[in-house]
Amino acid sequence: NAAPSSGSNDRSIVKKLESSDRQVVVFYGSQTGTAEDYASRLAKEGHSRFGLKTMVADLDDYDLEDLDTFPSDKLAMFVMATYGEGEPTDNAAPFFEFITDDSPAFSDPEDDDAPLAKLNYVAFGLGNSTYEHYNAVIKILDENLTKLGGRRVGDLGMGDDGAGTLEEDFLSWKDKMWEDVGAMIGLEEREATYEPVLNVSELEDLSSNDDTVYVGEFNQYHLENKVDSKTHSASNPFIAPVTVATELFNSKSRNCLHVELDLSGSNLKFTTGDHIAVWPQNSEREIDRFLTVFGLKDKRDAVIDVTTIDPTAKVPFPTPTTYDAVIRYHLEISGVVSRQFLITLIGFAPTEESKAELTRIGGSKEVFAEVVTQKHLNIAQVLQSLSDGVAWTNVPFSLIIETINHIQPRYYSISSSAYIDKTKPTITAVVESIERGEGEDVFKGISSNYLLDLKYKKDGIENTMPSAVTYAIEGPRKKYSGFKIPVHIRHSNFKLPSNPATPIIMVGPGTGVAPFRAFIHERAAQTEAGVSVGESVLFFGSRNSTEDFLYKEEWEAIAKKMPFTLITAFSREGATKVYVQHRLAENAELVNKLLLQGAYFYVCGDAARMAKDVSAGLAKIISTQRGISEKQGEDIVKSMRSQNTYQEDVW
Ligand code: 2AM
Repeated sequence: NAAPSSGSNDRSIVKKLESSDRQVVVFYGSQTGTAEDYASRLAKEGHSRFGLKTMVADLDDYDLEDLDTFPSDKLAMFVMATYGEGEPTDNAAPFFEFITDDSPAFSDPEDDDAPLAKLNYVAFGLGNSTYEHYNAVIKILDENLTKLGGRRVGDLGMGDDGAGTLEEDFLSWKDKMWEDVGAMIGLEEREATYEPVLNVSELEDLSSNDDTVYVGEFNQYHLENKVDSKTHSASNPFIAPVTVATELFNSKSRNCLHVELDLSGSNLKFTTGDHIAVWPQNSEREIDRFLTVFGLKDKRDAVIDVTTIDPTAKVPFPTPTTYDAVIRYHLEISGVVSRQFLITLIGFAPTEESKAELTRIGGSKEVFAEVVTQKHLNIAQVLQSLSDGVAWTNVPFSLIIETINHIQPRYYSISSSAYIDKTKPTITAVVESIERGEGEDVFKGISSNYLLDLKYKKDGIENTMPSAVTYAIEGPRKKYSGFKIPVHIRHSNFKLPSNPATPIIMVGPGTGVAPFRAFIHERAAQTEAGVSVGESVLFFGSRNSTEDFLYKEEWEAIAKKMPFTLITAFSREGATKVYVQHRLAENAELVNKLLLQGAYFYVCGDAARMAKDVSAGLAKIISTQRGISEKQGEDIVKSMRSQNTYQEDVW
């Protein structure tokens, strides 16, 4: 984390605004792409609604020590996600460190106590209220900018992903924000017209078989037919062979997969407790629906060139490419459509009826929730139902690329131990599907269904399950033939105690058990190697003992080898629900005894309810067992968190 260095012109935002003739810069601090999407939406809206000259900027691309010279007639917007334990995203970390310093060294050393007196800024944060440090990054940034003399325009916006209201929080914040910006610099709303940032042209002379055409190769080396094994990373995933894919549930209607990957031959390494990122692709069915709705089906393999009209924009994938490749690998077409996107499309509706319907649905939060959100409809499904089969050919493909979110990797807690084999991470993934209602389609989690389909293909089974979808797992040039998935590793702080003799208590219902399988296997292997390991207690919960009791046989075998206690909570076996937190309370004495021996406490799984209840439950256990107040119990859990003896891996 080098301190922002002074100097180079192209890393100065003030110079960049001048040279590209922009009034507004929207900075983003983004880990998985969501904040980046919101930032580009703000920039686009500022331009199309008010004629503002805007640009989007990755905080990592600029050195912001000249923020003290930011002109007062310009505006800086910050769209910042809070990550993990109240931390900034990787791309925002150096700036965050700089701005939270006691006295940041701005470019003009003569600056007095208000170096940012000229700065006007706007702030919106993306956070999750189920975490302790809700939206900490934007709050701290705002405090520091104000302290340094900056002037915030509009309210401090905060979106809550935990409550599932991120989109609506954003929409209601931004409307007021534009009013406040207007009051300051006098904005005039114009008829929103679409002005493309990207240009898409069809290249009739090129075929998708041509070597220079990108058809979904997951990294540049594949595109160039050079397989470089040393430099795999988040932007250059490794195409990992799938060595094992088995079903863990014993159920007709639900699936849970155990998938093992082979990282040998790559530079990727994981340590026990890390996450693995899977780069999914859309299902054939959704790709087909999308192509049909936008009238692109006949030219899916036509070659297109995508270039920037706006010099501050970036083309988000290699080009030339094909419609098919862009849709299949890059656009999040399967998820629930956003209300703002529907509104954007009103001007492009193919019929008067569809225009009226789109206006009705997009115009009201309530109607939208009922017609779209609750049914989990994606963009093509909504449009399909509105136009009576007429294709939406007026929608420019550049608008589609600019507006639809880009596919981001999905992260899974690795369920195998690196101590046993650091080249063979395993994934434990429940396949997501939400019933929409009788006779209707089911909403499918893109990544877990991609894994499920891979398994069916591996088993030589096609569409045996009512919910199965077929995916093309081989690129048109069959570069990924065989069973392979693009992956990279994300390191986490969720770790076993460094001393194997330290006792551990693990709470992991459902697939929350994944990292604990890794922990327990690791301790069993250590035991076999003659290492003395501490007591390991696992609280596991599932619906019942016959269908979704994950890794049942493994636990029985391990309990014979080392001090291991499994405590189960089967929620649907009795008249009332039994959850892991109830079992925790029943075993208060054991839990307290182990904590007093220095046990580490781990929670993995659902953040919204389970992890909260477990944390509160533990505080209660401590207070009753030790005869202290509830407040003191809570303080002990808090201090365990800060000393890393209470660790969470929750989602
Ligand atoms: P349920 O679906 O029967 O309500 C794994 O998903 C297990 O976690 C299931 O047994 C599920 O029970 C249970 N579960 C659901 N909500 C929970 C909560 N708030 N706290 C703990 N466990 C929960």
